[in-house]
Amino acid sequence: MVRPIIAGNWKMHKTVAEAIAFVAQLRSAFPTAPDREVIVAPPFTALGAAAEAVRGSFIRLSAQNLHEAEKGAYTGEISGAMLREAGCTHVIVGHSERRTLFGEGNDRINRKLLAALGVGLRPIFCVGESLGEREAGRREEVVAGQLKEGLNNLTADDIGSLIIAYEPVWAIGTGKTATPDQAEEVHRSIREWIARLYGPKRAADLAILYGGSVTPKNIAELMAQPDIDGALVGGASLEVDSFVRIIGY
Ligand code: PGA
Repeated sequence: MVRPIIAGNWKMHKTVAEAIAFVAQLRSAFPTAPDREVIVAPPFTALGAAAEAVRGSFIRLSAQNLHEAEKGAYTGEISGAMLREAGCTHVIVGHSERRTLFGEGNDRINRKLLAALGVGLRPIFCVGESLGEREAGRREEVVAGQLKEGLNNLTADDIGSLIIAYEPVWAIGTGKTATPDQAEEVHRSIREWIARLYGPKRAADLAILYGGSVTPKNIAELMAQPDIDGALVGGASLEVDSFVRIIGY
């Protein structure tokens, strides 16, 4: 049984001041640490201040993206080592918005995963099919391809540091959640795929999060599924109240 993980992906939301206020309220909502791993992923500019704000608490800090190179002439980019220094323990890699809006393919995502692991960041590796792909009956093929190419050259130890998030693209920010059964089916197939390649122990210990219109209303039925170990929450992670209710599902 994997310890549940609730991660909030703030995307391009919240100033430094808003991030500090959010973390303060989140801390005070849980005088004793919840029995979940709680992660917030602010934008780059708020990471340093958020790192100060979460210090000594149950909250872990994630970035939303990184560049795969260690350093160099990559204007506008941020390396894994910089994220570590800023206080991050986690980084989201391969989010569908990175894939579709910023042209990141499986190969690039693979290099980002290796770069993150190389500096000791735990990647939250996102996979998921679009509506067209699902309707064309290509869901399995697409997710399997994302896993196969994305995880190329990762060792079994690397898998021990990895978190996978299944986020069907048609469910992100649309209010359309995958049903618990639909999500469970994919989560189970991801775990089976990992078991075949890396062995049953790694597969059993792997946290597989669901993402896509998770709310305080649907979190409990999603978490009741045997292969859903947590949630990657976008919109509903922006208000302290709804994020607290998701954590306390
Ligand atoms: P959403 O976003 O919860 O707003 O659908 C999820 C995500 O993109 O990680």
